[in-house]
Amino acid sequence: MNTQSAPLLSARNLVKTFPVRRGGYAWRPKVEFRAVDDVSFDIEAGRTLGLVGESGSGKSTIGRAITLLVPPSSGSIRFEGEEITGLNATKQRSVRRRFQMVFQDPYASLNPRMRVGEFVAEPLVIHGLMPQRNERNEFVAELFTKVGLDPRFVDRFPHQFSGGQQQRICIARAISLKPSLIIADEPISALDVSIQAQVVNLLQDLQTELDLTYLFISHDLNMVRHICHGVAVLYRGRIVEIAPTTELFQNPLHPYTQVLLSAISVPDPIVERARQHILMDPTMDYGEPDSRLVEVSSGHWLAAARCETDGVTT
Ligand SMILES: Nc1ncnc2c1ncn2[C@@H]1O[C@H](COP(=O)(O)OP(=O)(O)O)[C@@H](O)[C@H]1O
Ligand SMILES: [Mg+2]
Repeated sequence: MNTQSAPLLSARNLVKTFPVRRGGYAWRPKVEFRAVDDVSFDIEAGRTLGLVGESGSGKSTIGRAITLLVPPSSGSIRFEGEEITGLNATKQRSVRRRFQMVFQDPYASLNPRMRVGEFVAEPLVIHGLMPQRNERNEFVAELFTKVGLDPRFVDRFPHQFSGGQQQRICIARAISLKPSLIIADEPISALDVSIQAQVVNLLQDLQTELDLTYLFISHDLNMVRHICHGVAVLYRGRIVEIAPTTELFQNPLHPYTQVLLSAISVPDPIVERARQHILMDPTMDYGEPDSRLVEVSSGHWLAAARCETDGVTT
């Protein structure tokens, strides 16, 4: 939450509620379930913010709220200096070009009946860019090369590619409109471990080459540590801690962050055996009565209520 330079993306007090029936019983009245509850964070241009938290903590909902796929119930999103919530349909369309999503399951994102070259070119067609087919094909071939695929494969169908290649195709489509922000929602979780690093390396190379900013949603903390500049820890729809990556991993302050970090395995059997695991106690409620964050050291923010209980002074 740096106030000195204008961040590329600034989310403030984001709330997303869903109407749900308690216990899923049809006869019960609907109540508002706060999947994302008063979430604020910034991402500086050219940086990667990791968003971590257990399944169901609201990570994907935050990603979708930012892209306005699932418009937030309240709160503000400033993107490239402009408030994007409440824009009319035409303006929304043009701002949406500036951010793209990459999802966990590449095959589900691809259209099985569409040749992959057409799939990559589709956003250009939708936005009426490069109307000349030749120019478009040339550009798609360039994109294929950029993501490490042979451009001769443009006429193939998705099932003819491996999972890693399919994710590369999805990444090629995501960068086709030259976005500035990419929201990658568990982009490598469905891939073989052996190719995860390759896809992550590709994302990192593209970041430098195309000046991209990432919101990297993941539950793989080793990967987050490796590629993210900052990390936000989400717990039950609220950010409980946010800090530069090194600071968070060296000095996790929130008990929930400590539990998450203690679960990371270390590829050294001696260190691994000596390591202290903090067991997640499902009965323990780490929930905060309020979602205010307090800056405990430079760039390290902690849920305010936790500061009070732990006596952390600011
Ligand atoms: N369309 C929806 N309707 C009702 N509840 C939803 C909907 N989308 C997500 N949720 C709920 O919001 C919570 C957060 O979901 P999600 O953002 O997918 O979590 P994560 O990505 O961290 O696993 C979950 O409890 C989920 O069941
Ligand atoms: Mg998710």
